[in-house]
Amino acid sequence: MKALILAGGLGSRLRPFSHSMPKQLIPIANKPVLVHVVEALRDLGATEIGVVVGDRSGKIEGALGSGARFGVRLTYIPQEAPRGLAHAVAIARPFLGDDDFVMYLGDNMLTDGVQDIARDFVIRRPAAQIVVHKVAHPSEFGVAEVDAEGRVLRLVEKPREPCGDLAVIGVYFFTAAIHAAVDAIRPSARGELEITDAIQWLVERGEDVRARVYEGFWRDTGRVEDVLECNSELLKDLVPSVRGEVDADSELIGAVVVEPGARIVRSRLVGPVIVGAGSVIEDSGVGPCTTIGQDCEVRSSVIEHSLVLDGAQVVGVGSVRGSVIGRQATVTAGGVPGWHRLLVGDHASVEVAA
Ligand code: DAU
Repeated sequence: MKALILAGGLGSRLRPFSHSMPKQLIPIANKPVLVHVVEALRDLGATEIGVVVGDRSGKIEGALGSGARFGVRLTYIPQEAPRGLAHAVAIARPFLGDDDFVMYLGDNMLTDGVQDIARDFVIRRPAAQIVVHKVAHPSEFGVAEVDAEGRVLRLVEKPREPCGDLAVIGVYFFTAAIHAAVDAIRPSARGELEITDAIQWLVERGEDVRARVYEGFWRDTGRVEDVLECNSELLKDLVPSVRGEVDADSELIGAVVVEPGARIVRSRLVGPVIVGAGSVIEDSGVGPCTTIGQDCEVRSSVIEHSLVLDGAQVVGVGSVRGSVIGRQATVTAGGVPGWHRLLVGDHASVEVAA
C-alpha cells in the first residue's frame, strides 16, 4: 500500500511558531511531528510515500530528505495553495495511480499506532475506511455517524450541531474509488475541497465506507496545548540514557535522557526529561514532562511541563510551567524588580502571574 502525507496548509493556530517553521516540524519529544508520522507509516509497511507540501517545502525537504534515513522513499508533491485535503489527493493522482493508499495528516499524532485498523482495511477492502475517535467537542472536526456494524451513514465537516461524538481523525484508507469522488465534489463554504465531502459522496452512492474506532492517544497538534500534551504523552515511554556529562552535584530522578555533548551542572532533573545535544543545564530544576532541544541554556531557573526549542535560553527565571519557548528565544530575569520587560513577537502569547 502507498501512503500520502499532507504537510501543506498554513498552521495559523500554531502561531507564532508557524511563522518560522511549518507546523508539521514542531518537535515533540525532540523529533518533528512529521518524523513521527513517517515512522508510523513505515511501521505499517508503507515505504512509497508521497508528501504534499506547500510554500514551506524547502524546510520539510530539509528535515526529511529522501526518506532513506527512515527506510522509505519520499516523493514531494507541491500544492500551490492549501485548497483542501481532497485537492491534495487530486494533485497526488499521478503518484498514487490506482493503488490503495493510506492518507495521514502531517499534524496528527496517534501514538498507539493503527496496525489493527490497517490490517482490517487490507482484508475487507471497503471503498474507504476512516478512523474515528470519541471527543468532547466534535464540532471542531469532521464528524461521522456510524451504525453498529461500523458502516458510515453520514459525514459532515465541522458541523455546528454534530450528529454524535465521533471525530474523524487524521488517518484514512482509500481504494482508487476516492478519485471519482474527489473529481465530483465542489469547494465547501470555507473554500476548500473537503475530504469529508468526497467520502460522503461515496456513502451517498452506496459504496462500502467503514469506520474503525481508535481508542488510543490522539492529538491534532495544530494548537500549542495539544503539542504540550502530546509531548508529555510521548515522554511517558522514555528510556533513560545519559550520553552527556552530569556532574557530582546533580541529581537525575526517573527517566532522563541526556544527549551527547549536553552538560548538567548542580541541577536536579525529574523525569521524564530530555536534554538535547549540546545543551547546558546549570543551577536549575528541570522536569517533569519537559523537553529541552539542542544547544539550549537553562541557568538558575526552574522549568516543568514545557518545551524549549533549539538554541533557546532560559536564565534566572524562577518558575516556568506549561510553556513553549521558541528557537533562539531568550527568557531572562533582569531589569527593575517587580516589573516585566517584554519583547513579544507577532501572535505570541505571554501569561504573567498577577
Ligand atoms: O485533525 C483531524 C481533522 O483534520 C479532521 O477531523 C477534519 O475532518 C479534517 O478536515 C482536518 O481538519 P483540519 O481543519 O484540522 O485540517 P488542517 O487544515 O489542519 O489540515 C490537516 C493537514 O493537512 C495539515 O498537516 C495541513 C495539511 N493540508 C491542509 C490543507 C487544507 C494540506 O497539505 N493541504 C491543504 O490544502
